[in-house]
Amino acid sequence: MKIVHTIAELRGALGPFKRPAFVATMGNLHNGHIALVNQAKPLGDVTVASIFVNRLQFAPHEDFDTYPRTWEADCEKLQAAGCDVLFAPRETDLYPEPQTYKVHPPAGLADILEGHFRPGFFVGVSTVVMKLLACVFAGKPGGNALFGKKDYQQLMIVRRMVQQFALPLAIVPGETLRAADGLALSSRNGYLNVQERAEAVHLSMALKALGEAARAQGLDGLDALEAQAMQTLSARGWAPDYLTVRRRADLLPPDSGDAATPLVVLGAARLGTTRLIDNLEI
Ligand code: PAF
Repeated sequence: MKIVHTIAELRGALGPFKRPAFVATMGNLHNGHIALVNQAKPLGDVTVASIFVNRLQFAPHEDFDTYPRTWEADCEKLQAAGCDVLFAPRETDLYPEPQTYKVHPPAGLADILEGHFRPGFFVGVSTVVMKLLACVFAGKPGGNALFGKKDYQQLMIVRRMVQQFALPLAIVPGETLRAADGLALSSRNGYLNVQERAEAVHLSMALKALGEAARAQGLDGLDALEAQAMQTLSARGWAPDYLTVRRRADLLPPDSGDAATPLVVLGAARLGTTRLIDNLEI
């Protein structure tokens, strides 16, 4: 695996190849990331991963400084997975001057759910993803970039950005990987202590129960079901931000006519000092 840090080095390494398959990460890799790399391999003639903890998507009070940085282990995992090129820019490589040009996704999609609780988050994500895609895919139409469904809203925002800007690549979704007890794999799971780790599966259990109740009782009483799901988690010691049933197509609340519409249950909640998110398509 070739490790490159600058955009020029990356373009040099990709020179002989025509169709990259790309996985963007912030490092601290787990099996969910590696599954994306494995999924990427047959989708291009060169498999590229990036590791970059993107300051732009962290609010000042969030965990940018303490976000786990596990460089050696990450390199070993990518190497073992058969990744060809690792792009690991320093901050000054990707942002040599303040990034004053930014991508602002539409408020209707980006200021709800995660964007409501993390204002500016999707501006930071969209901006860095646009830049990473420009670094990897410039002059190489027909490649693929893989994004996990675990970050459901992020996947949707990136997919629409690529579509609206007519970027010459396809966005390919990857399924969420779960631990044996059902907890969605996430770099932030590493923040949980032993008791919290045992409790953490209750987020996905609450989403599942909410989805089943919504399907069984119909969409008219959804507000009450969502409130009840939040209360159930609160009673277990969580601080939920949202547990909600949305339409998969636009992440807006379904109305009574949407009974046959594909839906997704999304949730975010804090356990101790760790904020976890998860979702379940129903
Ligand atoms: O999902 C992530 O790890 C990040 O949001 C991403 C897509 C790598 C952008 O920094």
